[in-house]
Amino acid sequence: MTLNPSADVVTRELRGKVLLVTIDHAPVNALSADVRRGLLAAVEAADADSAVQAVLIVGAGRNFIAGADIREFGKPPLPPALPDVCNRIEACTKPVVAAIHGAALGGGLEVALAAHYRIAVEGAKLGLPEVQLGLLPGAGGTQRTPRLIGAQAALDLILSGRHASAKEALALGLIDRLGSSGDILAEGLAYVHELLAAHAPVRRTRDAVAPGDRAASLAAVTAARAETAKKSRGLFSPLKIVDAVEAAIEQPFDEGLRLERKLFLECLDSPQRAGLIHAFFAEREVLKAPETRDAKPRALNAIGVVGGGTMGAGIAVAVLDAGLPVTMIERDDASLARGLAHIEKVYDGLIARGRMSAEKKAAVMTRWNGSTSYDALTDADLVIEAVFEDLAVKQAVFAELDRVCKAGAVLATNTSYLDIDAIAASISRPADVIGLHFFSPANIMKLLEVVVPKRVSADVVATAFELAKKLRKTPVRAGVCDGFIGNRVLAVYRAAADAMMEDGASPYQIDAAVRAFGFPMGPFQVVDLAGGDIGWAARKRRAATRNPAARYVQIADRLCERGWFGQKTGRGFYLYPEGSRSGTPDPEVEAIIDAERARAGITPRSFTDDEIIRRYMAAMINEGANVVHERIALRPLDVDVTLLYGYGFPRYRGGPMKYADMVGLPKILADIREFAKEDPLFWKASPLLVELVERGADFASLNQTA
Ligand code: 3HC
Ligand code: NAI
Repeated sequence: MTLNPSADVVTRELRGKVLLVTIDHAPVNALSADVRRGLLAAVEAADADSAVQAVLIVGAGRNFIAGADIREFGKPPLPPALPDVCNRIEACTKPVVAAIHGAALGGGLEVALAAHYRIAVEGAKLGLPEVQLGLLPGAGGTQRTPRLIGAQAALDLILSGRHASAKEALALGLIDRLGSSGDILAEGLAYVHELLAAHAPVRRTRDAVAPGDRAASLAAVTAARAETAKKSRGLFSPLKIVDAVEAAIEQPFDEGLRLERKLFLECLDSPQRAGLIHAFFAEREVLKAPETRDAKPRALNAIGVVGGGTMGAGIAVAVLDAGLPVTMIERDDASLARGLAHIEKVYDGLIARGRMSAEKKAAVMTRWNGSTSYDALTDADLVIEAVFEDLAVKQAVFAELDRVCKAGAVLATNTSYLDIDAIAASISRPADVIGLHFFSPANIMKLLEVVVPKRVSADVVATAFELAKKLRKTPVRAGVCDGFIGNRVLAVYRAAADAMMEDGASPYQIDAAVRAFGFPMGPFQVVDLAGGDIGWAARKRRAATRNPAARYVQIADRLCERGWFGQKTGRGFYLYPEGSRSGTPDPEVEAIIDAERARAGITPRSFTDDEIIRRYMAAMINEGANVVHERIALRPLDVDVTLLYGYGFPRYRGGPMKYADMVGLPKILADIREFAKEDPLFWKASPLLVELVERGADFASLNQTA
């Protein structure tokens, strides 16, 4: 019998003595205002109805509840508030059981913790991932979790935001029962009936006595506070989480809840919450390129990689890690052996650190196959070329692929800068050619630029997105141009950094300012890590076509001429004594910079860290706007995801375009116009930025238009 046929997102049905409450709010049963209202009404109804002896809460579809409705954050709050709903569930006078399958995350787990008993089945994911959104559990999670599983385990769960399996949740004491089948409803009902038969009492988590003694709990808090202060790198919510958990140990439940609410609201108001939630949605939006809607991916059972250097080997590892077979082609036996050695080095490193067994490595390597003959690629569904960055060399490789590959094989290039349209045009099947721009190390870095040339067919683009999914990469659709999205934007903010260095800021000050902004490394540390020779080769290649009127800072060239290529040569912008990986400032580099300033006729001036960041960000944002304006990126959010996943942009700032919106576009444009007084050619405001400021609009307004 359905008691409230009109209600949609939360339904109630009396099953004998049990009120079955089902949350049915696609796609993930997030706790929107309707769901909160429905849950509240269900508990009220259970208490009021003498026919009800117990309540069972389940989720319809693939999840229990994925958490608060993230789309509501930043908007005016709608009643009832989730903490009140949880408190009401806990106060129910009849036993309430949560039966969990799929995600029970954030507010979803908090609803379950407010229930009196919990059962979960295999495949369930339980966690409090609020920290990843700049928040803390705000519906009792910081108070109930420590009472149930102890402060140490609660801190670990809440500070990491990780998901625990049903089995682990049972071991932790987060749930009471592990269901043996996958049928969540049957498992839940059986458990409720068992509890009723045993006259199990209402058991409130607020009254639970935390395992372990108080001193040990407080010691865990002190240790977590010290560790978090060291590791949380400018994040706002982690230390507040520690404070809230401390209150769970030291204060009565209602006091602790009050503190949790206060801290939660502070986090909700923080720009970090806005940045992190933007990142959450942006990384999902990038998957919705037009071709992924309109076309079906081709098969992806066998992958080829041409080239076994830095990138080819890294890509091969990424493919092997995804469980796919890979065939590597190199130009001779010695190069092939080097390619294989690069791959083995990655796995041997894992074995040395105890993260892989020798048997597992052997099993993975059975999927690897190498050859110096292209004929080994006749069965490949997709081939990724990663040979030298030279158009003629790449076209010769593509001619071979055209000759041997089966019809319908996707032919991809990992080029960083070259014209993929020109590669496609050189063979008989341009519709099969696409760019797959991986980032180094390719088995680690999450970004994959899917570079879409003019003549490629839609199902090839869809196949590239499918490959990204299999490799667990974050794909961003990009158009063909010099540098695509990421490297094109990088070239401009690097140039801004070079100009500041020549004008008077030291590379060490610039790096420190950029790190303080939230990047893991500054631009000159990145050069030293990647190898100064790579950029030097690109600069030499472009020398003939460079605009002679454009400012060209030669400091990096002076270092390269001395063979100072960074970490691999022991010195670059920094000194790396005895193979050390963290550099120290080099007075000789500073002397070279002084000499270059003198040669260029520049009287050095000082920069504040704030001035450095204003210029660095204005350069990045302006080129990001150009990239969107020219449709190289579909939307501003695609630029954001590129910088977040490929260039170390601090996630809590959401990406450069989100950051620009938060600072205000008129301010960014005013900065650019001010800097243009010194160098009008470099600081040319993007037409898109100008237009948005004139219209009073922001980048976010363009994010809906893929
Ligand atoms: N609120 C609103 N929408 C959500 C959502 C949420 N909590 N979680 C997921 N969605 C949306 C996604 O944006 C996506 O929308 P789209 O189809 O329009 O792009 C859709 O649901 C499906 O999501 P996924 O593509 O991520 O689906 P998966 O099956 O891959 O993953 C999931 C499911 C594991 C639940 C994953 O979506 C997830 O991790 N969600 C976020 C969980 C979370 O962070 N919860 C905490 C929220 S904060 C909170 O609860 C505060 C409380 O303490 C007060
Ligand atoms: P690399 O020099 O380390 O490796 C190139 C490999 O290609 C060498 O092993 C070489 O023997 C092989 N090779 C050359 N000609 C060949 C041919 N005709 N047939 C088969 N193999 C051949 O170069 P790296 O760094 O791996 O770069 C490869 C490509 O990836 C380039 O296009 C580069 O621009 C791009 N790329 C490089 C990144 C990096 O950080 N190194 C990042 C992203 C892209």
